[in-house]
Amino acid sequence: KAYETILVDTDGRVGLLTLNRPDALNALNEQMLHDVLDALRGFDADEGIGCILLRGSERAFAAGADIKQMQHLSVAEMVERDWSGGWMAMGAIRTPIVAAVSGFALGGGCELAMACDILVAADTARFGQPEVKLGISPGFGGSQRLARLVGKPRAMEMCLTGRMIDAAEADRIGLVSRVVPAAELAAASLEIARTIAGMSRSATRAIKELVNRAEELSLAEGLRFERQVFHGLFSTADRAEGMSAFVEKRPARWSHR
Ligand code: HXC
Repeated sequence: KAYETILVDTDGRVGLLTLNRPDALNALNEQMLHDVLDALRGFDADEGIGCILLRGSERAFAAGADIKQMQHLSVAEMVERDWSGGWMAMGAIRTPIVAAVSGFALGGGCELAMACDILVAADTARFGQPEVKLGISPGFGGSQRLARLVGKPRAMEMCLTGRMIDAAEADRIGLVSRVVPAAELAAASLEIARTIAGMSRSATRAIKELVNRAEELSLAEGLRFERQVFHGLFSTADRAEGMSAFVEKRPARWSHR
């Protein structure tokens, strides 16, 4: 399927989604919101896909929401079009998503990266929440996810000053999973996505849901939820196969193959 603002492809069981508005540093406009969600939903519904890799260009993962498109919108139009709420639909995607970030990840771009499950950064990556400089606040999780990831003092500083941080600082404060040399970003992120895509689909989906719940639930509730999911997975064909394969010293043949 051809899209206006993104490129979509597959590599084995990995769904590849590339943001593709190079002239605007991949600024997130309304069309891109619809394209990204449609592609993510397509991959999510495809049993042949076990992991999604979301990436931008070398210069920019995404430089934020499209300021030129937002500039003249009224409150009513912002509410109707729901720029930020629209992106929150990503929370319904059950397939693990790896973000590969090179260059700018600013505003909505930083928020989009944080909405993914694993964040691999090139050493050229730069993160920031510069909305304050436009007279607005973050709108797709920048104040909430960032505070949970890096703590209140650092999130406050980033959101209140709009200061950009480099990949090394992002790594140090826990914003990213891993930093790699820019030349290795494509291979390193694909390797992670392939590894996940090669696992049991029922297990990886359950694990994604479990770890995401850790951000919302109390420890006691989270542990109870984990126990239920853990017990539930004993009903799957993959659990029987995975354990048999271990005992028989052979690779597992997951039910998706
Ligand atoms: C629209 C953008 C854009 C954006 C860059 N461009 N960011 N267009 N919206 N967010 C366009 C520029 O206008 C320019 O096009 C082209 O991309 C190249 O950008 P330059 O500014 O010339 O590049 P450079 O000097 O290298 O500076 C890079 C930059 C800067 C530091 C990333 O572009 C920048 O500050 N961008 C805005 C970042 C930002 O404020 N993001 C937050 C947006 S609010 P033309 O054609 O003019 O040359 C937000 C809210 C999220 O994200 C809400 C929930 C979704």
